[in-house]
This record gives sequence, C-alpha cells and structure tokens, in this order.
Amino acid sequence: MFQGRSLLKEVDFTKEELAYLIDFAIHLKKLKQANIPHQYLAGKNIALLFEKTSTRTRSAFTVAANDLGAHPEFLGPNDVQFGKKESTADTAKVLGAMFDGIQFRGFKQKDVETLAAASGVPVWNGLTDTWHPTQMLADFMTIKEIFGDYTGKHLVYIGDGRNNMANSLLVTSAILGVHITIIAPESLQPEQNIQDLAAEKAAISGSQLTITADLAAVKGADVIYTDVWVSMGEEDQYDQRLAQLLPYQVNAALFNQTGNKDCIFMHCLPAFHDLETKTMVDIHQKTGLTELEVTDEVFHSEQSVVFQEAENRLHSIKAVMAATLGNLFIPKV
Ligand code: CP
Ligand code: NVA
Repeated sequence: MFQGRSLLKEVDFTKEELAYLIDFAIHLKKLKQANIPHQYLAGKNIALLFEKTSTRTRSAFTVAANDLGAHPEFLGPNDVQFGKKESTADTAKVLGAMFDGIQFRGFKQKDVETLAAASGVPVWNGLTDTWHPTQMLADFMTIKEIFGDYTGKHLVYIGDGRNNMANSLLVTSAILGVHITIIAPESLQPEQNIQDLAAEKAAISGSQLTITADLAAVKGADVIYTDVWVSMGEEDQYDQRLAQLLPYQVNAALFNQTGNKDCIFMHCLPAFHDLETKTMVDIHQKTGLTELEVTDEVFHSEQSVVFQEAENRLHSIKAVMAATLGNLFIPKV
C-alpha cells in the first residue's frame, strides 16, 4: 500500500516496494515517450520546499507534477518564512492544510521527518545531509535499463564515503541485493550506524558489503559511481577534501582496473570534470587542477550513463508522487 505514505529514506520501503516504484518509473517513461497522458494527480497542489540549490530534483518534481496534472509551487529559501521566522512544525501545518504533497530538500533529516509528521500529507525527501532516496530510484532504474536487472550486480562507489549519496547507495544496495563496495579514505567512510543498517538489510537480501580504502577493490565492478568531494553546506572544507580525495579520482586508468569492458560510469551530478564552472575555475587558480572526482575523459566516455541517469530522475520522481498521492490501484507488492 503506497497511498498517503512519505518517502523520507530508503528503509521506509521494502525491497519489493522499491522494485515496484522502479518498474512503475520504467512504465511511466514509456507513456511519456509515447505521448500517452497520465494525469493521475489532476487538480492536486504540490509544494516544492528548497533550502539548498537544485537543477535535476527541482526540474524533475516540476515536470513530473505538470505531467501528472498537478500544480507545483516552488518555495525557495528567499521566498518563505521557513528557516528564519517560522519553525518546521508550524510550516508543515500550514503547507499541509493547503497542499496535497510536499517535496523537501534541505540540511537536516529531522526537518523532513517533522514535515511528514506534522503536515498530514505525503512528504518526499529531495535530499538531506543524510539521504537522497529519489536519486536511488533513478539510479537503480538506470542500472536495470542497461543490464536488465540490478540484482547481483556489483556497484563500486569511490570518494566521500560518508555523504548522503554514499549512505543511500550503501543501504539501498543492501536492501535490493546489489553487491556494493565503498572505496574511501578511512576518515571518510560511512558512520557505524549506517554500516549497521546496511548489514542488517544485506543479511536478508544476500548483498555483499565491502568498505575499504584500497582502490584495487574496483576489480570486477559493473558500475563505478562517484559524487562531488564537497557536498552542499560543506564548502569551507575544500582544501582538506581535495588533499584527502585526490588519489580517489575516477580516471581511465582506475576505470580500466575493473577488468570489465561492460562496466558503466554513474554520477548523480553536478560533476566537476572540466573548467566550465565558476567553482572549478576558482579551484584551478588555487591548485592547478582541471578536474576533480572524475576526469573529463571518463565523464564523456561511452561507458558514462550520467545523462540517462539524470533524465530518469523525472520518471522515478513521477512514480513516487503518483503511487503515494494518486488514486491508483496497486496490487499488494
Ligand atoms: N542529483 C541531484 O540531486 O541534482 P540536483 O542537485 O541538481 O537536484
Ligand atoms: N552529495 C551531494 C549530492 C548532490 C546531488 C550534495 O549533497 O551536495
């Protein structure tokens, strides 16, 4: 049963429920491509509450809401009282009385949990410091599109192993039965409580979990995944992170060590792979570096599926909104 539920973190849903949402997203993608209307949320109003910036998540929620016949309203950090003059719980009550669903992107996981508890409407986590669950649906949808299935595949995440993406990939892989390796320096490995949660899920699914600082662990990977070295809200830590993570850059030499010619490259984006951004120009002036977590060569290689992955944010977010807010008949999964 999906109706009325929130997506706050991956463990809120079972393996079967996540699989259902992924398959529903693949179905909705086909409907969109065939121009078949799917206005399951006609007349609904959706609040898009953002504390942090976004291109993909904001665009995906906006277009998904429109495709579903709903009206999205963007509430950014400079638009609303939330964060400065009004508490999360008070904001939740007001938004919940007016809107039928709320997307939240922000810092604290506790805020998205409070929004869900106090608003009385479905709340969708569009990223917090701890989790990025809608990204997971798009990512495993993409892996399924490419390989036909994600079960038993081996995903290797390299980089900042204690950020939202690493947490979400570790726990979601463990739920879904995907083997996952996190390669990160010891100082940037997942927190123990996240590792424990993943281990609990892996014991059920049969997923193999590896956490290591050793780059040789890329061998046999089906997916190489990386993310920015400095997440939103941590911008004062660039110097330290660059020093810690430069050896963990995903470049062609490392990619080839997988020994798997079918291995794909994934990244949630945005990515620092060239000098075409202001941030990267500033870093270049200070350090001489021209690319960070991934080289331009790997980013643009045939193995890279990053833009397919980005497009899938739309279809997967649409699946979550329709399943939790639409009056759909969904057989018990
Ligand atoms: N991947 C992702 O969440 O992108 P945005 O920050 O642009 O939403
Ligand atoms: N770890 C990144 C993900 C961006 C989609 C961040 O939080 O900034």
